Amino acid sequence: MNLSQCSHAFVTGGASGIGLGIVDAMVRRGLRVTVADIDAPALERVVSERGERIRGVVLDTRDREGWAKARAEAEAAFGPVDILVNNAGIAPNGREFADMDPVSFDRIVAINLGGVANGVFAFAQSMRERGCGHIVNTSSQAGLTASVPGVGAYAVAKFGVTALSEALRQEMAPHGVGVSLLCPGYVATNLAESTRKLGGEIRQHGGAMPPSAITPDDIGEMVAAGIEADEPFIVTHTRVWRSLEPRFDAIRAACERRDAAA
Ligand SMILES: NC(=O)c1ccc[n+]([C@@H]2O[C@H](COP(=O)([O-])OP(=O)(O)OC[C@H]3O[C@@H](n4cnc5c(N)ncnc54)[C@H](O)[C@@H]3O)[C@@H](O)[C@H]2O)c1
Repeated sequence: MNLSQCSHAFVTGGASGIGLGIVDAMVRRGLRVTVADIDAPALERVVSERGERIRGVVLDTRDREGWAKARAEAEAAFGPVDILVNNAGIAPNGREFADMDPVSFDRIVAINLGGVANGVFAFAQSMRERGCGHIVNTSSQAGLTASVPGVGAYAVAKFGVTALSEALRQEMAPHGVGVSLLCPGYVATNLAESTRKLGGEIRQHGGAMPPSAITPDDIGEMVAAGIEADEPFIVTHTRVWRSLEPRFDAIRAACERRDAAA
């Protein structure tokens, strides 16, 4: 989708980190942006620093009625949404499944997967009717490979976002609507702090990733390019392939064993 022909982007979790990087990339391309976030003070700061092209709306992405209100408000101010970025999310809790606190599991799935699905429920039908638009859903490396202990609940949610996005892409393509899956690796953001604010726990786990030089602004630019090229996957850190390859090799080997036994 050519971003120069778009006028309105709606970005969840846009008051911080990767979401804010995406907001700024959209503003640089001349779009007006609705920034939706649960953190009202952070939202106010971001909006007051950036001026008229940006509007803030306080939204908990778990709240479906909230989505309907946020959409109505956003479209009344800036017109139909061309670009939807379902990015709000929280961090892994660091617990292995045997020690899992079900409340923590439910929170991770409700925000990281349910929040994305709610965004799709709110906007996909109207984009299909208009015959244009693009949806970006933020998953993670952990939405492609669940190879480390302590990240399981998060991986469940993020694999869900991956499945949702791949299915949605097939469904929306004939109607002129693009769908991209954003899979970031480790990026320095406020993720731990935001997670604690929402009552989530953060424990050390085997999946802690090494620091990288990639910034939220870099990811904003990757997302803008990914929308322009209608990329199905926007992968930020190529090292993920090292864990994906053994996974796909094991699946291929399982198929070959079945063929050999037939
Ligand atoms: N930072 C990383 O290393 C990394 C890696 C892979 C994936 N991700 C994913 O990227 C996305 C953005 O995270 P980030 O690292 O920029 O963190 P961040 O904490 O800096 O930004 C996330 C924003 O989402 C908001 N948010 C959280 N729950 C919300 C809810 N229910 N409703 C509305 N807003 C909500 C927070 O208030 C915050 O402003 C998340 O989905 C996260 O899982 C991050």
